[in-house]
Amino acid sequence: MDYPSRPGIIRNVSLNLPAGSFCFVTGPSGAGKTTLLKLMFLGLSPSAGRMEIFGRDVAELSRDQRAYVRSRLGVVFQDFRLIDHMSIYDNVALPLRLTGKDSKDDRDTVQELLHWVGLGDYAKARPKQLSGGQKQRAAIARALINRPAVLLADEPTGNVDDGIGLKLLRLFEELNKLGTTVVVATHSETLRQRFDYPEFRLSQGQLVPSGQGAV
Ligand SMILES: Nc1ncnc2c1ncn2[C@@H]1O[C@H](COP(=O)(O)OP(=O)(O)OP(=O)(O)O)[C@@H](O)[C@H]1O
Ligand SMILES: [Mg+2]
Repeated sequence: MDYPSRPGIIRNVSLNLPAGSFCFVTGPSGAGKTTLLKLMFLGLSPSAGRMEIFGRDVAELSRDQRAYVRSRLGVVFQDFRLIDHMSIYDNVALPLRLTGKDSKDDRDTVQELLHWVGLGDYAKARPKQLSGGQKQRAAIARALINRPAVLLADEPTGNVDDGIGLKLLRLFEELNKLGTTVVVATHSETLRQRFDYPEFRLSQGQLVPSGQGAV
């Protein structure tokens, strides 16, 4: 994978994430975790190699098929990407609206999820009125609202304390048990060690074989 100014950011990475699995992508700052997740949610195209999602080669997907694939992915961005002029409720409900869902049940689900992530009282607030950790939780609620087949979470606990981080990871675990494939990028060694899931460790854009290369 190349950025225009920086060729070869991700190299020789081969991984297979079975449906329903849970894994961590780890590695130090700048290792390529976010870049790898961007490839996975089709935000970037690989400059070489082959990538399949839901059993299909991404290079062969039509525009509609790409949109469909995207609609089945829940993404928690490292920088949240909440929409400033919309309320927290509307931010979280956005993926539902984009897929034409706005029933009473759907609205209840938004409120329930907000409550679950501890933002029940913040439905009407704007993103700029929230702390970093609260924005992160709003971003997580938005990623989950459409019951995605795959959750791609980039440092989803980077701005919350350990207690909340653990609680969020447990929520991801519950979702995983219900069938969602979960990929969590994190540089938090402590968090990762508390959960016994496979780890893909990156170092300078390459996978480090397990058991080698301390971060
Ligand atoms: N848009 C871009 N253009 C050029 N280089 C980029 C771009 N985005 C990232 N990079 C470079 O790619 C490398 C990997 O960055 P990436 O954001 O994937 O790392 P990361 O593992 O997510 O780091 P962090 O833990 O700090 O979030 C870094 O060297 C970074 O400088
Ligand atoms: Mg990153």
